[in-house]
Amino acid sequence: MRRAEEVTGKPMDRVDGRLKVTGGARYSADMPVDNVAYGFLIASTIGSGRIKQIDTAEAEKVPGVLAILTPFHVARMAKGSIKAQSVPPSDQTPQSQKTPGNGSAQKPGSAQGGPQEGQKAQQRQTPPPRKIHLLQEDDVFYNGQPIGVVVADTLDRAMHAASLVRVHYQRSAPLLSMSGEMHRAYRPKAAGGKGDMPDSLQGDLEMGWEMATSKVENTYITPVETHNAMEPHATVALWEGDRLTLFDATQGIFGVRKRIADLFEIPADNVRIIAHFVGGGFGSKGPVWSHVVLTAMAARHVGRPVKLTLSRHQMFGPIGFRGETHQHVKLGARRDGVLSLVEHNGMVQTSVFDEFIEPVGASTRMLYACPNIGTTHRAVRLNIGTPSFTRAPGEAPGMYALESAMDELAYSLGMDPIDVRLRNYAEVEPESGKPFSSKSLRECYRVGAERFGWSKRQAEPRSMRDGRMLVGYGMATATYPTNRSAASAKARLMADGTAIVQSGSQDIGTGTYTVMSQVAADAIGLPVDRVQFQLGDTDLPPTPNSGGSQTAASVGSAVLLAGQALRTKLIQLAIGDRESPLFGVSESDIATRSGGIYLKNDSTRGEDYTTLLKRNRLPQIEARVDAAPGEEKNKYAMHAFGAHFAEVKVDPDLGTVRVARYVGVFAAGKILNAKTARNQFMGGITWGISMALMENTLMDPRTGRIMNADLAEYHVPVHADIPALDVTFVDEVDPYVNPVGVKGIGEIGIVGAPAAVANAVYHATGKRVRDLPITLDKLL
Ligand code: MOS
Repeated sequence: MRRAEEVTGKPMDRVDGRLKVTGGARYSADMPVDNVAYGFLIASTIGSGRIKQIDTAEAEKVPGVLAILTPFHVARMAKGSIKAQSVPPSDQTPQSQKTPGNGSAQKPGSAQGGPQEGQKAQQRQTPPPRKIHLLQEDDVFYNGQPIGVVVADTLDRAMHAASLVRVHYQRSAPLLSMSGEMHRAYRPKAAGGKGDMPDSLQGDLEMGWEMATSKVENTYITPVETHNAMEPHATVALWEGDRLTLFDATQGIFGVRKRIADLFEIPADNVRIIAHFVGGGFGSKGPVWSHVVLTAMAARHVGRPVKLTLSRHQMFGPIGFRGETHQHVKLGARRDGVLSLVEHNGMVQTSVFDEFIEPVGASTRMLYACPNIGTTHRAVRLNIGTPSFTRAPGEAPGMYALESAMDELAYSLGMDPIDVRLRNYAEVEPESGKPFSSKSLRECYRVGAERFGWSKRQAEPRSMRDGRMLVGYGMATATYPTNRSAASAKARLMADGTAIVQSGSQDIGTGTYTVMSQVAADAIGLPVDRVQFQLGDTDLPPTPNSGGSQTAASVGSAVLLAGQALRTKLIQLAIGDRESPLFGVSESDIATRSGGIYLKNDSTRGEDYTTLLKRNRLPQIEARVDAAPGEEKNKYAMHAFGAHFAEVKVDPDLGTVRVARYVGVFAAGKILNAKTARNQFMGGITWGISMALMENTLMDPRTGRIMNADLAEYHVPVHADIPALDVTFVDEVDPYVNPVGVKGIGEIGIVGAPAAVANAVYHATGKRVRDLPITLDKLL
């Protein structure tokens, strides 16, 4: 029953908005810590080899320098060392015959297959820890690898001293070219670092191809993309005996605690991680990277708290990125547009010392109904940092390829792109055969087409103009799985009628403080301004990483249940209390309103929580809930969906592309806050446009040094690049996904957006660009 005063869903301003705009919000590096010293990372300047010697004499002369940690001067860590993985031998296939999925790649479903399908997606949220560099060996695996830390009494002195450290290397030739090393591609055990199978196969791919009358077969390429969160990664480490407190810019405080406890071999109870505010993560703050542990090592070494912040330059390489992908997609359809084959073979890159496989085929397995679907993932090891979770890992680049290919298929069929998608609409999840817990994709296409004015599109490429500008319309589908992990929360009502609600978690800029305050207020039955929601501290109840768009579903469910448990306690207190006007009343006859409980059919009979607590001489009353996903995951396929529509204007002489209009329509279960949700989608779409037109991490092919490692040369959109984004939601009530009914909206906004833009560019120009970003040189 929805009460008029409920705030969940309302476009409420951020509860932390004022703190943020007034500078009152303290991010990790802002935390005041007495006697803090400053660490600065030293990074390798070669792509591969060994450190022979590090000359620190000049650096040590800099006044205020406290220590220089290098592989030759650091405490040993039993679990801290890493080894190169063997680079697979060449398979001898001539370079010219090599396309991903053709020839070199093993046939999906063949004998060498790993664990079977049923196990897929079990560990989506708990990837293995990244292998990180803790100065335990002298190997250099990539350019930019952390190889030392200078600690000084000021940041300037630490940076200056770091510039004076001389490193002598024994160099070997780095493996840097993805296409050059494809003859050494190998089949990984899992894709995504999430336990998903690298290959999938349904039906008969060859037969599906033969049956097709319209065929599309192309390779789509996406470049290395770097997260570039606004807040640089930062850690402050403070030891008190063998107890450690870290203020850390992280997407997962409990993950940091576990990793730190493990590496330093101390009990997790001795480690406290605090992250009150995090300025964006985009996946880069999910794993624990070298600098976090090195900061704690440095603090122990100098016997003082140490603060270490990565420079913008240092955020390119050692904290993950989206690896380059080469995706070979084959689509076949009969004359009526019904798909007879969907094949998606991904070639991705990983490092020589660790493994992350961008799961580009993930969406292909669940999006369109087709009897014959095959996906594979193969990887190439290079001397690069390890790629990692980045803005919808897998889905974002994978759907660029699949949804570009669907657009190409629509032209080859002479059908409208929306019609082709509707013709192949999946009523059950193709891969598993499970029903969807809810799916409103049809409605997203319909509403989006209407808002955008899709019917005005003239099918012929290069047929629409605005003055001398070429105009193009493009669309694409969005999808993202609904993830949820175990999470706990505590709700406490105080004698003054205010509540404190707590759940470890972290707000990475998405609005967690705000939406959890809303959910808690409604669950307890309090006005939202009487609820204070606290997070960002491992002393609070445990929660998962804020990754995989799962925080609202996981923490939201825990907060909802804890709030409801608290309300139940209050009601039971009243009905068992002879002095309460509700004494002896049945629980189901009671409603909550504005901080009090009343009879549903007689609102004059009841009392405020404050009265109830005071009379019972209770200073507070508390409920705690440990919530976890149940059987629903096995019964239903759970995904959010959406549709993107883009209008671009392309200068026919200059090749410049402007996105002129944009419509995104999404169905993602319950929307907890219409304002912060819209904000999330604007961010996702902005990154999608960015991926389509701008982002590209460029590496020097000789040294492996990243050449555009700053925000001047690594292009991301500014306001002038992004039009007013029209974002709307299709109402969706999903009783199955999780108690709070949300599907998660952190990542779906980017998924499909690059294809919508690329498809619009094709429609405008007649040129199909199959390697991102679509820069003007590719259109001339
Ligand atoms: Mo997100 S890339 O799952 O942190």
